[in-house]
Amino acid sequence: MKQTIIAPSILSANFSNMGKDVAEMKTIGADWIHVDVMDGIFVPNITFGFKMISDIRSLSDLLFDVHLMIDEPKRYAERFVKSGADLVSFHIEAERDVEGTIELIKNSGAKCGLVVNPDTDVDSAIPYFEKLDLFLIMSVFPGFGGQKFIDGSLERIARAAALRDRYAPHALIEVDGGVNAENAASIIAAGADVLVAGNAVFGAPDRKAAIRKIRN
Ligand code: DX5
Ligand code: ZN
Repeated sequence: MKQTIIAPSILSANFSNMGKDVAEMKTIGADWIHVDVMDGIFVPNITFGFKMISDIRSLSDLLFDVHLMIDEPKRYAERFVKSGADLVSFHIEAERDVEGTIELIKNSGAKCGLVVNPDTDVDSAIPYFEKLDLFLIMSVFPGFGGQKFIDGSLERIARAAALRDRYAPHALIEVDGGVNAENAASIIAAGADVLVAGNAVFGAPDRKAAIRKIRN
């Protein structure tokens, strides 16, 4: 069986410890680092941008999985790649030129993911699927860490995995929001390859143990 990829979200870190937390990701068993960028327009919260990413880039050789929760991501996608993103995901709801944005990200040298909110039809991604490296299903409404996994997300994950098998077998299915040690097994069983976890890792007394529990 293939290994699930665990991507802790540094949104849930204490930003005053950011360097130390990023540097220890590999030793605590993380596979990727999930980086949540919010603009205060597409979502009602503001996090960080290019400088933060380029400043922490040298602290870890893990894949930087940058999740853009910003309006019109095409404007800034290339700069996120230049700042050190290995994979850039953007929301289908936030961009008119989805195809052009995918091309721009890939031509800049990064992998590309497309994200759907909990109330967006999973099938709306079908026209773009063949070009995607990753498809991200939100299991909370984006904006904040520590929310509860929305019931009904498992069906959406299963549908996403079925679309992936049909249109882009190489692509990964990622799930973001409210993932924890209790629900991880059912999320993986539904077809997820990559699990984002914020609170479940950073809120745990033993982060290494928390990642191990989510993985199994
Ligand atoms: C939500 C973010 C998520 C979130 C995950 O807007 O995209 O990455 O921080 O945090 P938890 O796991 O606490 O829901
Ligand atoms: Zn995220």
